[in-house]
Amino acid sequence: MDLGLREARVLVTGGAANIGRGIVHGFAEEGARVAICDIDGEQAGRVRKEALERGAAAAEVVQQDLTEEGAGARVVGRVLELWDGIDVLVNNAGWSVPGFIAEDTDRARWQRLVEVNLYGTIECTQAAIGPMREAGQGSIVFISSDAAFGEIRQGVYGATKAAVLALARTVAKEHGRHGIRSNVVCPGLVLPEDDDAIGSTSLWAVGQDSVFDADQIDYIRKQIPLRRLTTAQDIAASVVWVSSERAARQVTGQVFSVSGGYSMP
Ligand SMILES: NC(=O)c1ccc[n+]([C@@H]2O[C@H](COP(=O)([O-])OP(=O)(O)OC[C@H]3O[C@@H](n4cnc5c(N)ncnc54)[C@H](O)[C@@H]3O)[C@@H](O)[C@H]2O)c1
Repeated sequence: MDLGLREARVLVTGGAANIGRGIVHGFAEEGARVAICDIDGEQAGRVRKEALERGAAAAEVVQQDLTEEGAGARVVGRVLELWDGIDVLVNNAGWSVPGFIAEDTDRARWQRLVEVNLYGTIECTQAAIGPMREAGQGSIVFISSDAAFGEIRQGVYGATKAAVLALARTVAKEHGRHGIRSNVVCPGLVLPEDDDAIGSTSLWAVGQDSVFDADQIDYIRKQIPLRRLTTAQDIAASVVWVSSERAARQVTGQVFSVSGGYSMP
């Protein structure tokens, strides 16, 4: 099926690494124009090149720390400057540091978690709504997590990801009448496929074992009905599908866990 995304103007936040990179590749393969917003300009530049090789009609890097005040307006403003509109916003940038809730008491650390996972998402969403309303259509996809439903060692992180669900559904309810669709994809555990998949600011840059060690990964795999881990391509396929006005015209306010059935929201 032709998803009708050729030349679509797409902004992917956190597009330089792992899941975001997979999403950039997914839109590139549909012939879309993709803006890669990331704090890591160097890695984003590499992904830009990959996007062009995979068929993107255009690809641009927008280097920005999304926790800075006004960042969302600057990033969306750059997309409007480049392409005179925005059809798809994927709020993917995020950060996670596992920690038991009673021990995760370093306020500066969890405050950063809240800022990275929420501030940029709120600002980019607010900035995209105006031009999407004017155009009478648009798709906003929020990358949340299965941790939004409560997971061990994911207390503060899960809380930020649960907040994203409320934000997405509010956007769906408030702006559906303007043609804006707003949906949530909750990835299961997605490990970077290789070293090319991440840059120095990726949460995985500390080493995979420091985030999830082999025993923890094995434990998670056994709880997945399909008994296999999720890939960045799996997430990309869902995000691309739900962003297609042709394929998902009547889909809004929905939460999809793309996790092999680990969660069933
Ligand atoms: N990987 C998983 O297992 C998993 C599971 C569920 C949900 N998620 C969510 O998916 C998203 C992507 O996860 P990932 O594994 O690809 O992470 P990642 O750390 O590999 O990639 C995130 C990207 O966001 C960028 N970023 C971080 N802070 C930023 C900021 N302040 N401003 C701009 N860019 C910033 C990083 O530079 C990085 O390139 C996150 O929202 C994460 O919470 C991941």
